[in-house]
Amino acid sequence: MKDAAPTTAPETFYLKDYKPFGFEVEAVELTFKLAPNSTRVLSKIRFAPKENAADPRFFLHGEALKLISAKIDGAPVTPELIAGGLICDTPDTPFTWEAEVEIDPAANTALEGLYMSSGMYCTQCEAEGFRKITYYPDRPDVMSTFSVRIEGNEKVLLSNGNPTGSGDGWAEWHDPWPKPAYLFALVAGDLVNHPDSFTTRSGKDVELNIWVRPGDEGKCAFGMEALKKSMKWDEDVYGREYDLDIFNIVAVDDFNMGAMENKGLNIFNSSCVLASPETSTDANFERIEAIIAHEYFHNWTGNRITCRDWFQLCLKEGLTVFRDAQFTADMRSEPVKRIEDVIALRARQFPEDNGPLAHPPRPEQFQEINNFYTATVYEKGAEVIGMLKRLVGDENYAAALDLYFDRHDGQACTIEDWLKVFEDATGRDLSQFKLWYSQAGTPRVQVSEDYADGRYTLTFEQSTPPTPGQHDKAPRVIPIAVGLLSPNGGEVRATEVLELTEAKQSFTFDGIAAKPVPSILREFSAPVILERETTNAERAFLLAHDTDPFNRWEAGNALATETRVSMVTEGAAPDGAYLDALEKLVRDDTLDPAFRALVLSPPSQSEIAQSLHDRGVTPDPQKIYDAAETFAQTLAQQLETSLPRLYAATTVDGPYQPDAHGAGLRALNGRILSLLTRLDGGEQAARQYQAADNMTQQYAALASLMKAENGESQSQAFFDQWQSDRLVMDKWFALQVACAAPDAAAGVASDLTGHALFDMKNPNRFRAVMGALAGNHAGFHHVSGAGYQLLAKNLIALDSLNPQTTARMCAAFQTWKRYDSARQALIRVELERILATEGLSRDTHEMVSRILQG
Ligand code: PHE
Ligand code: ZN
Repeated sequence: MKDAAPTTAPETFYLKDYKPFGFEVEAVELTFKLAPNSTRVLSKIRFAPKENAADPRFFLHGEALKLISAKIDGAPVTPELIAGGLICDTPDTPFTWEAEVEIDPAANTALEGLYMSSGMYCTQCEAEGFRKITYYPDRPDVMSTFSVRIEGNEKVLLSNGNPTGSGDGWAEWHDPWPKPAYLFALVAGDLVNHPDSFTTRSGKDVELNIWVRPGDEGKCAFGMEALKKSMKWDEDVYGREYDLDIFNIVAVDDFNMGAMENKGLNIFNSSCVLASPETSTDANFERIEAIIAHEYFHNWTGNRITCRDWFQLCLKEGLTVFRDAQFTADMRSEPVKRIEDVIALRARQFPEDNGPLAHPPRPEQFQEINNFYTATVYEKGAEVIGMLKRLVGDENYAAALDLYFDRHDGQACTIEDWLKVFEDATGRDLSQFKLWYSQAGTPRVQVSEDYADGRYTLTFEQSTPPTPGQHDKAPRVIPIAVGLLSPNGGEVRATEVLELTEAKQSFTFDGIAAKPVPSILREFSAPVILERETTNAERAFLLAHDTDPFNRWEAGNALATETRVSMVTEGAAPDGAYLDALEKLVRDDTLDPAFRALVLSPPSQSEIAQSLHDRGVTPDPQKIYDAAETFAQTLAQQLETSLPRLYAATTVDGPYQPDAHGAGLRALNGRILSLLTRLDGGEQAARQYQAADNMTQQYAALASLMKAENGESQSQAFFDQWQSDRLVMDKWFALQVACAAPDAAAGVASDLTGHALFDMKNPNRFRAVMGALAGNHAGFHHVSGAGYQLLAKNLIALDSLNPQTTARMCAAFQTWKRYDSARQALIRVELERILATEGLSRDTHEMVSRILQG
């Protein structure tokens, strides 16, 4: 079921070429006769030609389908099979199209369309997978109701909407809400459920189920609670109620992404829904809660209102990420969530936006849409909405969203529609703001200041470096939240939002008695890079006094970066003032433990590499690694006397609860344990490993021990204990590679690919090993080139099985131009080797070409 090799240059699709489909689809009826190698799909679809259609051709998408028969109004027809689908002559009045096709789910390793995972049938149709199930206008602006009959011997037969009948070996479903084909889903398997129910605010009872393979029943309770919380939150905060009698979630082991919002039948990567204290870490719990919410929220932002075409992907994804972040902030801690999101944005979106893969949140062209499910579309798309909300204010945001749901329910929309509701609700002209959707690249904002006679002036200058295909960038609207602190630490001006709209612009504050310390870009009010001449003393001041928790953390992060950069470039010792400041913070029990844990978490080595590159220094991954080690060792020594007390004070007693407070304490406790392990060689970690009754503490102890190269026996014990639990084994695989020293990482990863439990076809397992290799900065970039070679070799092997996961992982090479010419040459060889692979998928071809060209 591999995509056909591009014989000529692959086709490029452009936003500007949009044309509506020439037919209405009035109703879709599907019958599935399930068989692993020869499933039959019968479709009966009512089409009505549109008057004055821009494109009157009857073209249905279809890929990897065996056409058995086709009829129009009951009479056999012989459609012409062309690349990517079929065309057929049709009547000019409404007609019924019927087709029977045969597909091979058991051979489908691409995990797109109908496939099998651990003996169950499941589907993945977003973005363009439905065309691998039957012939259909597989585009999001074609919406219809679906009625589905499933015939199979599996105990559980599920599809979208409400159940309408079932019997021995069959079940029928009807989804009354018109939807695009990408939201279609079918699941069939011998599954068991974790049932519950929810009463909506208007009094409707909804049946809820999480369906899993037998044995996983005990891992559903947390996800179910998260679902109910999400349903309630969307009613309370957005006024959105659920709209079917039943909501099903299914966990599958083989899945390319995190989860999928199919109408009434969400399908989840099992790693994003199954949770238990013994097998999941606090981070897993938080992520599961967020993803359940995300998929549920799509019911309104994505399903009821969908996208006109795939260029508009951020319409649903940016908004839904923004909504799930609000939810997590409400359920847990707002500042902690914001800091975590900014860390993730800088780790994943900034490299993308500043490298060869840069694209706007709304791209204008693609070859393979699967390659655009990116941090830019998702996370920057959410940042753009955060800016919009900040600019118009909370009340206007709420009014605009009400108008959006009112005006566009049941439609397939564009970014223009989205911005128009804000313009209409607020009277504001958003034409300049719209540049955030069309321009790629992270703006740089330079700040300078001036103080005289009680007047304090901040001057901002913005510019955005060129990105592929975009050279000159106009100034954007940038909301900059600013507060001013007095030199003694009090706040002289509370936060206000400055609207930067020009290339260069000044803002003046009057009546300021003494030269203040500015706190700029509070809450990270815009996804930009702030450049300001400042001192470590001022950063330390902000770390101690800023009233904005985000900027407090940011000051610490800047100090950490400065100190590591000077260690690398000048061979300097870790900055003493910074170490003192850190020590004070860690010991300050009035501060949220989760916040302290974040302040104690150093910037990643990849981020330091980026900082060096930004300063015109070619990063040496080994030196960056050494600096990180030296810094951690020095910090551990500095804290030596307080570590045992801190360790004890942050140890959570009593039964494990995955709540935010406990998670914060355990995060801090884990950081302290890792420092302690540097001093005691792992004594405390071994005790913790022995005593742990939950995965968070077991994993933290194992990671500390392995990092200290003193965890052989615990690693073996962990394997023995968990070898039959796939999700825990993913952690074990990843940890081996993540903890490996720079010169060992590629070898460790290579050995693991030969392990009996390594399975190339399972994306989670593949990512556990290869993703961990790419994430081990000094290991991946080891000067031998072994990391590059191993990744390329495995990507080539995976491409013929699963193009989508292969292509996504090519992004590991996107930062290659940061490094020295020897490493660049090594990487180029690997990229060219991938590109020269015979039969390379369109997905991987596009990614590697872009990385090479950029
Ligand atoms: N639409 C899914 C989400 O964001 C992601 C996804 C995309 C899943 C493509 C599968 C395939 O929730
Ligand atoms: Zn989504």
